[in-house]
Amino acid sequence: MSIIIKTEREIELIRESCRLLAIVHKELEEYVRPGISTKDIDIKGDQLIRKLGGIPNFLHYNGYPASICVSVNDEVVHGIPNKHRILREGDIVSLDAGLIYKGYHSDAARTHAVGQISPEAKRLIDATKQSFFEGIKMAKAGNHLFDISNAIAAYIKPYGYGIVRDLVGHGVGTRLHEDPQIPNFAQPRRGPKLRVGMTLAIEPMINMGRADVEWEDDDWTVVTEDHSLSAHYENTILITEGEPEILTLY
Ligand code: MF3
Ligand code: CO
Repeated sequence: MSIIIKTEREIELIRESCRLLAIVHKELEEYVRPGISTKDIDIKGDQLIRKLGGIPNFLHYNGYPASICVSVNDEVVHGIPNKHRILREGDIVSLDAGLIYKGYHSDAARTHAVGQISPEAKRLIDATKQSFFEGIKMAKAGNHLFDISNAIAAYIKPYGYGIVRDLVGHGVGTRLHEDPQIPNFAQPRRGPKLRVGMTLAIEPMINMGRADVEWEDDDWTVVTEDHSLSAHYENTILITEGEPEILTLY
């Protein structure tokens, strides 16, 4: 494993890539409502990315056929947009998006409520988001990578939710997925040391029920095995001398 330390210039480009992505997410959040299709979200997101001067990095990635991953309810990640899949009041929808700006990637995900949702669903979304913020409290130079994983897991534990184990966070740079892999579940080891200039995508994926997931026949869509709801929250962050910088926040 080799974790790339970014130069100042590279950090500037990643920062800009992430800033643009934050705008995309903000606009998509406002666009989500009952009655639109998951394909509508993909079209909107693709247009926004290009209008801002980015290139969608998910499109054609390992053959993935869209620019935005749109995952509804028990879909965990990598849902494929479909014009026949209409969002309904009470659904939860996870939007995962990324772009390339001057050769540098960004990656972020949010789970949104579609209209009014149940208190239980809201609790899952909020806990998933908060677990990210608990995790990155440990994202400091000199700490170990798995301090982040352990903080996420410790926060989720009392909820009794399932932490997805089959998918992990990752480094981000000139490639969408760089070393290191960043698990969201508790780690018996410490992992590599965090250093100034690392850019990482931290992305807890949390199921209301059990942690187990399976792949649908399209070979992309990941769903909870027990069909419980699932939420996702991801930002690209930068390890600094002090507090981590969250690069994909609006
Ligand atoms: N953000 C996703 C991840 O880190 C990337 C999805 S790649 C795609 O796993 F091809 F599915 F779009
Ligand atoms: Co990611």
